[in-house]
Amino acid sequence: MVASTFGRGNALQARVPAGLDRKESEIYRKLDPARLPRHVAIIMDGNGRWAKRRHLPRVAGHRAGVSSVRSTVETAARVGIHALTLYAFSEENWKKRPKSEVDFLMRLLGRYLKAELPTLNKNNIRLEYIGRQHELPEDVQERMEWARESTARNTGTILTLALNYSARSELVDAFRSMVNAASLNGGLEHLRIDEDTVSEHLYTSDLPDPDLVIRTSGEMRLSNFLLWQLAYAEIYVTPTLWPDFRGMHLLEGIVEYQKRERRYGGLNHSDISHGDPHPRGEAEKLLK
Ligand code: FPP
Repeated sequence: MVASTFGRGNALQARVPAGLDRKESEIYRKLDPARLPRHVAIIMDGNGRWAKRRHLPRVAGHRAGVSSVRSTVETAARVGIHALTLYAFSEENWKKRPKSEVDFLMRLLGRYLKAELPTLNKNNIRLEYIGRQHELPEDVQERMEWARESTARNTGTILTLALNYSARSELVDAFRSMVNAASLNGGLEHLRIDEDTVSEHLYTSDLPDPDLVIRTSGEMRLSNFLLWQLAYAEIYVTPTLWPDFRGMHLLEGIVEYQKRERRYGGLNHSDISHGDPHPRGEAEKLLK
């Protein structure tokens, strides 16, 4: 998406991309467009609570959550996020929720893919999936493949839906895949295991690791989501329930992300520029 209008005020203010609404534009102006997270991952949570507060069945929360998906995906594409990954449902959801709820989610997914395809294409969004797809109903797999193929030539935001996904299963699948690859390439004595090899065998091998993970509804858990890939991600938890979440909330999360200093286990800039806080010999004294 191409930015077309300028924000008012000082010259450093960000150019606002076309298509953002008034609220989104206001928040966007607080951002540094040069430091957007490349990959944002979202744990969409709180659909059931949203429905319960309205005395509605749980599935009404899931249905309302589709509008949140639409708004978030479009905003991500408009501001130029390289990759957006949404935790739509976990392996645990799939195995532990009532069949009626799982069936509803499957039908909702099918309808979403059909209804959203023109918008995904219009916004140049490429659709991908992670999770054990082969365990999903065949008609859903076919619809998923059709939608993936129909967006395969798009070059903008990569939208990845995590469906029947579990990070632990993904690691198990990665280790199996490494062993298979080694046995095809001359046997297990050729098995090389290091961090790059593990990453190459994950479902997300074509994506950068997420810089920011957002969880809605105030829960402070990762719930078996991208455990390897989130090692250095910034975590942003918002009390907003998923059906109330919109593009502006995504931008608020990015504002918060830009306030953080990412250290990857190192020191922050001021500690480095001021040198070792303990003069020579001080550290030894502190150990006595
Ligand atoms: C978690 O809320 C949400 C889910 C298990 C399903 C997410 C599905 C959608 C947002 C809609 C469909 C998605 C797509 C991509 C079409 P919960 O039910 O665990 O909520 P609770 O914790 O309040 O009970």
